[in-house]
Amino acid sequence: MSAPPRRVENLHTDKGKVPVYATGIVEQPWDDYSADDHATWTTLYARQRELLVGRASAAFLAAQDAMGMTPDRIPKFSALNRVLTEATGWTLMGVEGLLPELDFFDHLANRRFPVTWWIRRPDQIDYIEEPDLFHDLFGHVPLLMNPVFADYMAAYGRGGVKAHGIGAEALQMLTRLYWYTVEFGLIREADGPGSSPGQALRIYGSGIVSSTGESIHALESDAPNRIAFDLERIMRTRYRIDTYQKTYFVIDSFEQLMAATAPDFTPIYARLARQDSVPAGSVLDTDAVLHRGSGEGWADDGDV
Ligand SMILES: [Fe+2]
Repeated sequence: MSAPPRRVENLHTDKGKVPVYATGIVEQPWDDYSADDHATWTTLYARQRELLVGRASAAFLAAQDAMGMTPDRIPKFSALNRVLTEATGWTLMGVEGLLPELDFFDHLANRRFPVTWWIRRPDQIDYIEEPDLFHDLFGHVPLLMNPVFADYMAAYGRGGVKAHGIGAEALQMLTRLYWYTVEFGLIREADGPGSSPGQALRIYGSGIVSSTGESIHALESDAPNRIAFDLERIMRTRYRIDTYQKTYFVIDSFEQLMAATAPDFTPIYARLARQDSVPAGSVLDTDAVLHRGSGEGWADDGDV
């Protein structure tokens, strides 16, 4: 018998937290989940689904329903894979924690999505630093059912492998794109109550949909900027890892996102490397601003 998979979490040292990476692909130890584990999933699933109706992108909600994720117990990756692989050719695979960048990109490029097998402890129900099963499965996986978004994720993986070969600056710019789209992206959709057609703001980023507080903050708070998607602007923009975002970028469609990955990024990286990075909360003259943030509650420093 092989050893059970490990639960790889950040290390906390006297110099702060240190991420720990794990490369192994593991079988989901579904029979080993405790009653607490299933209860954590059930609680978070019910809470977020209720909050997200009318807030998340219609495509996200439809995709989540089409996958058949079990609300009352942790879904089995094998059952989800039967639906997902048929729909878009993606496969979920269990991992123990964060993957090194190049491994992660290579999996995406080959339509394999790494999902952390373990779920947060009951005392972490409202906040956990590292991605766990709830963030990965509830937040990231549904949109892999969407053919255009599924293509975007694979294109991103190919771009990541390439950027990794170019150097640290290119990788940093590409990471910002992931952050402001896959993790914290907003989309303009039709049919919003009280909004004109095509103007209703909705969430599609995984970091938002898997967070109760940020689901409300991203759409309803006056504090953050909401700015129309602009590839090169995003590649220059620093971000927050320890607070809600100061700026959200808004796409009009997943097709727009996919189209943005069509050009060769190599000359873009070279050109942007000569420009200053933009602080997370700044608004530029060239921005198409949907909402200028009040900045209330922002920390002055700490952008990464
Ligand atoms: Fe994530």
